Amino acid sequence: MSLDALTDLEKQALAELAACADEAALRAWNTKYFGDKGLMKAALSKIGTIPKEQRAAYGQEANRVKVALTTASEAKQAQVKEAALAASLSANPLDVTLPGRPRPRGRLHPATQILRQVYAIFADMGFQVYRTREVETEQYNFEYLNMPEHHPARDMWDTFFTTTPGVVLRTHTSPGQIHVMRESAPNPVRVILPGMCYRYEAITPRSEIQFYQVEGLAIGEGITMADLKGTITAFAHRMFGPDRKVRIRSSYFPFTEPSIEVDIDWPKDDPNRDRLTKGTGWLEIMGAGMVHPTVLRHGGYDPDQVTGFAFGMGPQRMLMLQHAIDDIRLFWQNDLRFLRQF
Ligand code: DAH
Repeated sequence: MSLDALTDLEKQALAELAACADEAALRAWNTKYFGDKGLMKAALSKIGTIPKEQRAAYGQEANRVKVALTTASEAKQAQVKEAALAASLSANPLDVTLPGRPRPRGRLHPATQILRQVYAIFADMGFQVYRTREVETEQYNFEYLNMPEHHPARDMWDTFFTTTPGVVLRTHTSPGQIHVMRESAPNPVRVILPGMCYRYEAITPRSEIQFYQVEGLAIGEGITMADLKGTITAFAHRMFGPDRKVRIRSSYFPFTEPSIEVDIDWPKDDPNRDRLTKGTGWLEIMGAGMVHPTVLRHGGYDPDQVTGFAFGMGPQRMLMLQHAIDDIRLFWQNDLRFLRQF
């Protein structure tokens, strides 16, 4: 290849470059001259084959052409980019004076709202919020709560077992009692323990496989059933208004003795009343009782020194009562028509 050929190559390349109208054409040009089998590449690799006396001149010229083409193509590239931007701006004109689009403001999920109401009421009564784990061992979920292995009372809680033996999704917030006690003994305790629980149950308008509970626990010297009744009644009147009726029934839980259940009356004018309350007019909102001595012992307390009460309530049930919501499944269906009402 001669020096003339190099000059021709430069001319031809520059002319073709000038004709490139878009980035695709530029890429093709680049491949043609600077690709692995490109013409410029070929010209450069020939330097070694040029007779000695012309080699220096050829080499210099080849390098000059290479630099000239590179510079020209970079300039062209910038020019093409700018033209593309200008074209897209004039095709989609931007009016910076338009008012911004309003951002839809979210809201708290009704379950979160009711939980916060519960926290506020108990905070006024001196209860602290304490959180514990959702994945528990069978020991915490059952055994320390006075339900040894094979105890038939375990059947009261249809359980999700994990693939790790002895590890379950907690069926209630009650195992949190043991965690709090073990951290606090021998000091007095006044806490609520909110959180998600899981049960392997049929999903119906009244029960879900996952739901919130709020556990309560008070331990100290001389705490009696009267304190429990007073606390629950004060809570129910703050939550539902002073006119709502609270009904206390005796019941059974392995971790309390004596045990009770608490019901709230369902609004009389609600046509769904019978269906939701199974014809009784009452909806259960919590189980409760005096902490069983065995449970106190598992928590590190001496049942001869202290007593305590505990309760476990379903805050979603309470929301249903407040608004006469007739289907608990609405909570986790993410239907905005439901959620926006709160
Ligand atoms: N853990 C019980 C349940 O899920 C509710 C309960 C009953 C909690 C009595 C308590 C209690 O703390 O004292 O059904």
